[in-house]
Amino acid sequence: MAGKDPTSVREAPIGVFDSGLGGLTVVRRLTAAMGGEDILYLGDTARVPYGIRSLKTIRQYALEDAGFLLRFSPKLIVVACNTASAAAVRELEAACCPVEVVDVIRPSAAAAVAATDGPVGVIATEATIASNAYRNAITAIDGKREVISQACPLLVPIVEEGREDDDPIVLHVLGDYLRVLQRRRPGALILGCTHYPLLVGAISKLMGPAVKLIDSGQAAALEVQRRLKEADLLNPRATGGILRCYTTDNAARFARLSERFGGRSVDSVESVGTDELKAPAISTNL
Ligand code: DGL
Repeated sequence: MAGKDPTSVREAPIGVFDSGLGGLTVVRRLTAAMGGEDILYLGDTARVPYGIRSLKTIRQYALEDAGFLLRFSPKLIVVACNTASAAAVRELEAACCPVEVVDVIRPSAAAAVAATDGPVGVIATEATIASNAYRNAITAIDGKREVISQACPLLVPIVEEGREDDDPIVLHVLGDYLRVLQRRRPGALILGCTHYPLLVGAISKLMGPAVKLIDSGQAAALEVQRRLKEADLLNPRATGGILRCYTTDNAARFARLSERFGGRSVDSVESVGTDELKAPAISTNL
């Protein structure tokens, strides 16, 4: 952000995107850590889920999402989607430069390695697990660390449907997915999908208190705070940040469900077509 007036950059929004509503769990953590920051959120609900698509398609979607957010001159972009982080972090960093990009995978891998000397478990979407992004991020920090990975494709639709921790279907499906992890007893388990914090009660019940659960949104929020502080770009306001959302389909449903995911009210929800994500930059101000 060289050459820009630092005061205006401090007041610029943080751009956040996800395939849908899940990234609002990251917004919840950002708000808890930095309540004065304005947040501009894009949920690509027309194309959710990303987690069953090829890495090539996810990369294309992620670049379009970030391109849309760049039109609002954010001071930093958060890839609030593990699947997009797994598929496209390097491409996003190159495309957004000089705006910094914070993904959810590297901060979570670092938090998990710091939390235990034992094996690290990872639960995530099919695409995230198949990409090996978590395994690579963990072994880049500690080459000897054992990583136990489990794809959990049914969890995203279950959470989207509004089912909660004590629902028998949730416990049944999770019981099946977590069986190997329960047997191998990792020291920490990364909730490698932004939907999973909504099932933290059930996951913790099934894994037991000895397993530290790592929320990828929490790790990313702390990384955002660290980077903004280091660059002296934190908004001086302590509270009262605005949350403005764009969604590519069904804005009414997004508005209805947003508080359950984000833990806060949303100041506005507007529709944007996926065709508009590909359109040349328009000038818009928060
Ligand atoms: N939000 C995505 C993630 O964190 C999961 C939803 C999807 O598959 O699009 O991986």
